[in-house]
Amino acid sequence: TTELFGQTKITCKITDEMLAKQFLEKYNSTAEEVWNAYTEASWTYNTNITEANKKIMLQKNLEMANHTKIYGLEARKFDTSDFQDKSVKRIMTKLSDLERAVLPEKDLIEYNNLLASMETLYSTATVCKDEAKCLPLDPDLNKIMAESRDYDELLFAWQGWRNASGRELRNSYKRYVELANLAAKSNGHTDNGAFWRSLYETPTLEEDLEALWKDLEPLYLNIHAYVRRALYKKYGPEHINLKGPIPAHLLGNMWAQTWSAIMDLVIPYPDATQVDATPAMIAKGWDPKRMFEESDRFFTSLGLLPMPPEFWNKSMLEKPTDGREVVCHASAWDFYNRKDFRIKQCTVVTLDDLITVHHEMGHVQYFLQYKDQPIAFRDGANPGFHEAIGDVMALSVSTPKHLQSIVSYWSVESTINFLMSIALDKIAFLPFGYLMDQWRWKVFDGRVSSSEYNKEWWNMRMKYQGLCPPVPRTEEDFDPGAKFHIPANVPYVRYFVSFVIQFQFHKALCEAARQPAPLHNCDIYQSKEAGKLLGDVMKMGFSKPWPEAMTLITGQPKMSVQPLMEYFQPLIKWLVEENKKNGDVLGWPEYDWTPYKSKPGVHKLTFKCWFTAQTESLFPILLSHQ
Ligand SMILES: *[C@@H]1O[C@H](CO)[C@@H](O)[C@H](O)[C@H]1NC(C)=O
Ligand SMILES: *[C@@H]1O[C@H](CO)[C@@H](O)[C@H](O)[C@H]1NC(C)=O
Ligand SMILES: *[C@@H]1O[C@H](CO)[C@@H](O)[C@H](O)[C@H]1NC(C)=O
Ligand SMILES: [Zn+2]
Repeated sequence: TTELFGQTKITCKITDEMLAKQFLEKYNSTAEEVWNAYTEASWTYNTNITEANKKIMLQKNLEMANHTKIYGLEARKFDTSDFQDKSVKRIMTKLSDLERAVLPEKDLIEYNNLLASMETLYSTATVCKDEAKCLPLDPDLNKIMAESRDYDELLFAWQGWRNASGRELRNSYKRYVELANLAAKSNGHTDNGAFWRSLYETPTLEEDLEALWKDLEPLYLNIHAYVRRALYKKYGPEHINLKGPIPAHLLGNMWAQTWSAIMDLVIPYPDATQVDATPAMIAKGWDPKRMFEESDRFFTSLGLLPMPPEFWNKSMLEKPTDGREVVCHASAWDFYNRKDFRIKQCTVVTLDDLITVHHEMGHVQYFLQYKDQPIAFRDGANPGFHEAIGDVMALSVSTPKHLQSIVSYWSVESTINFLMSIALDKIAFLPFGYLMDQWRWKVFDGRVSSSEYNKEWWNMRMKYQGLCPPVPRTEEDFDPGAKFHIPANVPYVRYFVSFVIQFQFHKALCEAARQPAPLHNCDIYQSKEAGKLLGDVMKMGFSKPWPEAMTLITGQPKMSVQPLMEYFQPLIKWLVEENKKNGDVLGWPEYDWTPYKSKPGVHKLTFKCWFTAQTESLFPILLSHQ
């Protein structure tokens, strides 16, 4: 203010930061509209795959990209170096990455069309038994993989799915890699893998993840050896080598990513109690809607938010029976208008799907908690956080304590059975969760060339999971493409991160809920304290770097495997002894053994060095860390 002829004149300096705030307000309100329109169109397409719906979706996507580009280029003009408000700075930085909108229109159209066609091909692929009967992945092929114990029937489903999906996608994928890299480079990243990693804001991400994996590997090797012996008993020496990798089609899942479906083959104590809620759910007459209501009840018992009315009447909770083709892969949707949130899932009444229901409901809970943040912050603290929320709920829901009503007698043996059933999902998954993006990072940065896609894929399946293909593979095949997230362009290491940090969250919430040890029987049901802690972290959205969110919940900023190890402690001890008793070798020293007879003329993949020889000695070191 200045005095002028006795009057007070107020001069107002309009700072760049004020202009930036104004700009962001406009961005926020327009983005909500444009993103909502695209999401609606995408939903329509995903729940009703037709050419007309695809066309509308692609058009809305172009409009969204247009918006991203206009505002992104504007954001890049601001010099944010001395802005006071850290949030403004953070949003500006985020907007400055145009993602795929950076592409020239011609390339962008090609890229979007390519993505849509890959996902459509994947979602509509079927495997024909004979001319009359063709089986979709969801639910038919998945059911065969989970329930059949016939070596050749499993092979039929496994191989048939790869012929129908991955193989058909190989050429598209090659072009996709070029376009994804082009976009990433135009935004200043070295390649698309570097762009994906940048979402974690952790320069040491690769080393950190490798260190976590190295801590977890001995535990995986013990499960692997134990399960291999059980499969040996079932399928015999002609199909299983006790010192070799496991044929990839025998583990109860199309990608051998979780193994709980073969619990019947590997159960440690068949006569002790085992918790399988599936029969109980069916006996009680549950339908898919009821499963979502149960999950909603769990969240609200913690004082978290109930699903809004729109959720209940707009979600797709079952596979439609009116002949529509849909993308069955379960997903949760934020429509960016602060009131519309949905789930799309072809739910089946099983315990497995009940866990998936909680997983997807965790995403929606996150959407609800951060809905009043600026649109740029409506995201997880990092992608792994978003994946972890629902799984944390499921850890409580799966406990013997929570399922008490259906469990009449509990013993030490029951605990081992229970932990084995959880480990078949949570531990068996770890190497798969890690290798999916190890493969893609190498594809994007050129260490894996398009002429070696499948070979390198199987090198990694061997190196990390100790699996081998049940039939010879060639470069005509494209087995990574037979997994949804590869054609659907969804990064995957988030699941590996989630499987580690969800145990950290579980432990922190159990402490908040004053639940006595052991961790594997902690149920946070009805704990408002646990709910408050989780709600506060979710409310932050992406507004702060994730270590701050981690600190809020666990009191320290790092990812750690210790809570996971603590959770499984009784099983780890049991497994090590059991494997020793059976004289089992950890790892797969006879890595070039194959479950098929090599036919002359068939191109056999050659594997490089990867197998882990004697790792038994690693275990005592690991256990003494605790
Ligand atoms: C699916 O979309 C088409 C338009 O492509 C429409 O005619 C049809 O009614 C839709 N089906 C359902 C069940 O919504
Ligand atoms: C992109 O936005 C500009 C400015 O709002 C508009 O004139 C143009 O028609 C838009 N293009 C598309 C494809 O939506
Ligand atoms: C959806 O829910 C709203 C609010 O409860 C209700 O007004 C509307 O009629 C419902 N629509 C359908 C199709 O059920
Ligand atoms: Zn998810």
